Amino acid sequence: IGGSDMYRQQILDHYKNPRNHGEIEDPTFTHVGENPMCGDTIEMDVVLDESEETIEHVAFRGDGCAISQASASMLSEKLQGTTVEELQAMDRDDVVDMLGVDISPMRIKCAVLAEKVAQDGAEIYFGEKDLDMTSTEE
Ligand code: FES
Ligand code: FES
Repeated sequence: IGGSDMYRQQILDHYKNPRNHGEIEDPTFTHVGENPMCGDTIEMDVVLDESEETIEHVAFRGDGCAISQASASMLSEKLQGTTVEELQAMDRDDVVDMLGVDISPMRIKCAVLAEKVAQDGAEIYFGEKDLDMTSTEE
């Protein structure tokens, strides 16, 4: 009980005092995603380093429940210094581990919203870059 209370406190703290909340000017990519169950959204700005392998900085904003916002806040901290490859390899278990509490099946979409936004944003960004490269080859 002690442990999970501590984690619950941590989630509330991230919800009330979100880290890296706001916008980054000139991010490498920006993406917004929605939890279709409730319409809550998270928008995330990501800055990659020059090699575009490592995440340097993340900021987010959005409207949503405590779990979605706390998860975005925690993820924004966790992602700084991790590689894009590590981000793309994350799954829902990693998100649940990060949150440190049991997440009911009903709330799992709230918990993984931020992770999905970051992953989809990266996928779209690198996908479009590939397209750019092929289209300039004409
Ligand atoms: Fe347009 Fe993410 S919202 S690419
Ligand atoms: Fe909407 Fe959690 S209730 S993201």
